[in-house]
Amino acid sequence: MSSVFPLSVLVVGSGGREHALAAACLQSPLARRVIAAPGNPGIAADCQCFDVAADDVAGLVNLAVNEAVDFVIVGPEVPLALGLVDFLLEEGIPVFGPKADGARLEASKNYTKQILLKHGIPTGAAASFDDANAAVEYLETASYPIVIKADGLAAGKGVIIAQDHEEAVKTVRGMIEGGDFGDSGREVLIEECLFGEETSIHVIVSGKDYIILPTSQDHKQAYEGDTGPNTGGMGAYSPADLIDDAMMARIEKEIVIPSVNGIAAEGIDFRGTLFIGIMITKDGPKVLEYNTRFGDPETQVLLTRLATDPLQLMLAASQGWLNEIEVKVKDEYAMVVVLASNGYPGSYPKGEVIALPDSVDEDEHIFHAGTKFDEGKNVVTNGGRVLGVTALAPDLQTAAAKAYALCDKIDFKSKYLRRDIGAKELQRGR
Ligand code: AMP
Ligand code: GLY
Repeated sequence: MSSVFPLSVLVVGSGGREHALAAACLQSPLARRVIAAPGNPGIAADCQCFDVAADDVAGLVNLAVNEAVDFVIVGPEVPLALGLVDFLLEEGIPVFGPKADGARLEASKNYTKQILLKHGIPTGAAASFDDANAAVEYLETASYPIVIKADGLAAGKGVIIAQDHEEAVKTVRGMIEGGDFGDSGREVLIEECLFGEETSIHVIVSGKDYIILPTSQDHKQAYEGDTGPNTGGMGAYSPADLIDDAMMARIEKEIVIPSVNGIAAEGIDFRGTLFIGIMITKDGPKVLEYNTRFGDPETQVLLTRLATDPLQLMLAASQGWLNEIEVKVKDEYAMVVVLASNGYPGSYPKGEVIALPDSVDEDEHIFHAGTKFDEGKNVVTNGGRVLGVTALAPDLQTAAAKAYALCDKIDFKSKYLRRDIGAKELQRGR
């Protein structure tokens, strides 16, 4: 192991993912100080938060220099795509997260598709367009449903599954000509619709070394029974037994290894999280997308289950000694239930006072996301996803019962939650 010493750590971001990352760093013997930018009231309970936005790259570099930060953990995709990691490294500040060249694997769906195809990684057939008429001509002979993706970052909203030709034409014209999704939609990827069970895996990557983290399952749709519009994620659990050992071995061989090697072969020195969206089709697992950061809310359950120090893991990936780490996982289930503002992912009210319990058990966490302090120092709602209520227990049923019991102790006027996080898995008998 390279020499490590108690570090001053900066966590960039303000969501539930960043609250979970900051909480893990606070537990770590490797950290002497944990600060966040911009953070949120939950993070602020234990860490100093600085009012620098997650997309203010120059401001974040200044903060890291001024506060003599030893290590930066970048939560969200936007600062990664803006090159925050490149600028921090130029200042000699070690960081967990890919440079802009690696972040492009999330920030451009066309680029990612080229990489997947070039390196023989299983994925759906697709074509890219920046000309609406050419896209419409292509759609004449396409089969439906078909998937239309804005090329750039769109906060998880830039993917439309068009059921018929008319909807597809309207979608591509809206993106390329109408400016739906702004510059992110000026180029589109039109992709074959894949069918099957969807899953995702988190891989910590350090050049050619990698560690696959435990499985987790998100619930992307807003309403119970996996209906309604797509959100950032309404809840998750880990482990997700949908991926058994045989399927995981197949995913590692057919997707993870060629991805890690392919990215390295492109000359990208990727040191961060590669979070791979996968469809388990009848022809095997196929890549839907890469994300180049931890998932939210998946991080809340993944970090809760890790017995290995997550800060040590991220340091090792950043410093190039990942192969010295053996990740140990608690033999327990974790579940996170998102308390959202009613209306999310559409419009929703803000500024509602949140009533929180005075304390929680050791194996329970209330991770803040869309919260802020009002002028009277009350914690109020300030986003679509407000809190991530997380519990750890020996089995999934108990984890769910504990998480939901804690959800019922929290109140705000527009509180909305899905009551069926993990229900499919529980019906399968875990
Ligand atoms: P992405 O951001 O590319 O993961 O897409 C968001 C969501 O759209 C995914 O989680 C899937 O549910 C869905 N999706 C994306 N690509 C496809 C595809 N080729 N076939 C079916 N569904 C897809
Ligand atoms: N929960 C899905 C994501 O973070 O993209």
